[in-house]
Amino acid sequence: MSKLNLGFLASHGGSNMQAIIDACKSGKVSAEPCVVISNNSDSKALERAKNENIPFYHISTSTHKDKVDDAIIDAFEKHNVDIIILAGYMKKLGDKVIERFKGKILNIHPALLPKFGGKGMYGKFVHEAVLAAGEKVSGPTVHIVDLIYDHGRILNQKEVPVFPDDNVETLSARVLEQEHILYPETIQKIANGEIVL
Ligand code: GRF
Repeated sequence: MSKLNLGFLASHGGSNMQAIIDACKSGKVSAEPCVVISNNSDSKALERAKNENIPFYHISTSTHKDKVDDAIIDAFEKHNVDIIILAGYMKKLGDKVIERFKGKILNIHPALLPKFGGKGMYGKFVHEAVLAAGEKVSGPTVHIVDLIYDHGRILNQKEVPVFPDDNVETLSARVLEQEHILYPETIQKIANGEIVL
């Protein structure tokens, strides 16, 4: 069976992307990172792609004006991508891209969806809301991207405890550590047929 071709969209650090690349390199995940796209030319994610010899593209409204969706689709098609991995992509993905790769786009969210998701729920805002609600558990969710923010089918989750003395920094670090395990694990489940997209 041929390996899954992965395409990434990332805006900043790309630590989740790196965890997936590392898992592919070590053979834990049977997939091939094929292309990285970022809307941010200075992103660490693009630097990581360069270091890993993975083709990369800077695609944003400053480079492609109103043709961003087409440019993203062209790049993913050119590299025969089977699955798109959103790894800290801070832009709302265009409907055209979502329709073209329907059911094949994954995202990781740093809370247990369907709670604490939706527009404006990203980064520290998610963890602030979890702490304010007095939750005893949190953790990342991998889900399918559809036309509504954080709404698509949930594929996999991992729980972590929330401690009484937690703050955004301590909680987000604990969740991120699990993201780096959950995301590769979920992709491998797709690769071996345990999860069917
Ligand atoms: C993670 O917290 C993830 O849950 C969210 O964006 C962040 C990306 O971090 N979607 P990184 O760029 O992978 O380090």
